[in-house]
Amino acid sequence: MKHPVSGAPQFSFTIFLSLAFLSGCANTEQGQSSSQIPALDIPSLRASQVSQPEGWNDDVALTIPVDLNPDPNILEIDLEAKITNMEIMPGKITPVWTYGGSLPGPLIRAKVGDRVIIHFKNNLPDSTSIHWHGLRVPNNMDGVPGVTQDPFAVGGEFTYDFILQDAGTFWYHPHINSAAQVGWGMYGPLIVEDPNDPKEFGDDLVLVYSDMSLDEDGQFLPVDIGGAFSDLFGREGNIILVNGKVQPKLKVRKGKQQRWRVINAARTRYYTIRYKRQPLIRLGGDSGLAQHTETLDQIKLVPSERTDFVFTPIDEPGTVDWLRWYPTERGYGSTFNRFSEEMMEIETVNEPAVLPETIPYALRTIKPIDITGAKDVLIDLTITFPDDNSVEMGINGIPFWDSSPLLGRIGETQVWTVRNDTDFNHPFHLHGYFFQVLDENRVPEWKDSVDIPVRTELKLAVRFDERPGTWMYHCHILDHAEVGMMGTLRIDP
Ligand code: C2O
Ligand code: CU
Repeated sequence: MKHPVSGAPQFSFTIFLSLAFLSGCANTEQGQSSSQIPALDIPSLRASQVSQPEGWNDDVALTIPVDLNPDPNILEIDLEAKITNMEIMPGKITPVWTYGGSLPGPLIRAKVGDRVIIHFKNNLPDSTSIHWHGLRVPNNMDGVPGVTQDPFAVGGEFTYDFILQDAGTFWYHPHINSAAQVGWGMYGPLIVEDPNDPKEFGDDLVLVYSDMSLDEDGQFLPVDIGGAFSDLFGREGNIILVNGKVQPKLKVRKGKQQRWRVINAARTRYYTIRYKRQPLIRLGGDSGLAQHTETLDQIKLVPSERTDFVFTPIDEPGTVDWLRWYPTERGYGSTFNRFSEEMMEIETVNEPAVLPETIPYALRTIKPIDITGAKDVLIDLTITFPDDNSVEMGINGIPFWDSSPLLGRIGETQVWTVRNDTDFNHPFHLHGYFFQVLDENRVPEWKDSVDIPVRTELKLAVRFDERPGTWMYHCHILDHAEVGMMGTLRIDP
């Protein structure tokens, strides 16, 4: 594999940081007596020598479940799905559908190789299931009603039990009536740590982005609001949430790095986020670290996608500003007359700056999947209009309910051409296996969710290495999945 000019992004970032620090010192030097040595205001401490500001993440804290198992390599928890009243809008009560009574659901966090046991109980007024998005679980743990298991009826119970095979930032959500249930609050983060990750990345901050469609009394708008037009566009909620909160606050200290693990759990909304175009060092995404870092001034996340990046605060102590959401071009009407929104307040506390740690450029080796002799498969994402009042989506013109499975065998490699001839982007997701995007311009990494923009196609290499069974692939704009843009893949031994 060839690399882009190794070290270049790191280099420019270092210069940027130095400039930021030097400009800060110019102010403090003014007014000092000339007898003093004009010392450069170089921080005396390094990022690794100080802690995050007190209460830095209190406002975005996630619920930590109780581990019922004394074995350090097993995380065993109870998880109950239930409706919980919450104040999302000031003074209004919203009956949120939750995992465990919190929004998002509890942070399931363990290390790679650990076993996770989840005793699940459904106390919702409707059937549900849990799908472990991005995790390579055995087929019978994949949580797809009608495909890998029966849905859990009201009062139903089930124990999920699997090994965490890969480090990365993952999440969980229902796989039945999912546009509605995810939109009502059913999602939670699942982090698989790699104990060997460099400490320089900084303290972990898990951020689950989502949105909700509420009326002025805090009640959910009808799930099918807007009819066929909204099926086509997808339903973006009118309230943006960060870890279940509207415009929460984060505290940072100049120079002290944080590793943000961001998950897009929204039913339809794309997130392009920026903090004043400050550089963000991307580490990877769906399944852990990419081959090398990439310095970006904004991060784009399509529904179900994850991104890990290092956030290095460069504002002067005392600064308060907003992390913003920007509209993303994803087809007809997605950016027209839409503006950025304030998502999360970032306060740079009044503590002396520290010197940021150097983030390594090379992160890990991503060996390209060998595609010699691979079978070519065309996945054409299609939209049809059966009549004036309805829209149907599908794969190769066939909606999910009429489809027959794609076939593969253990040990086989396929190259999927995922083509989008429609007027809307589709975030394409595959269960069970990671894929590699065959695109020289991207940093090599393992993915399970990827955007397919309007009138483009992407080639994905996938190897069915183990775990036979029937797996889903679909658009993760859940409104599109509901009207048929899903298919199954049957992997035989
Ligand atoms: Cu988030 Cu079928 O998946
Ligand atoms: Cu779609």
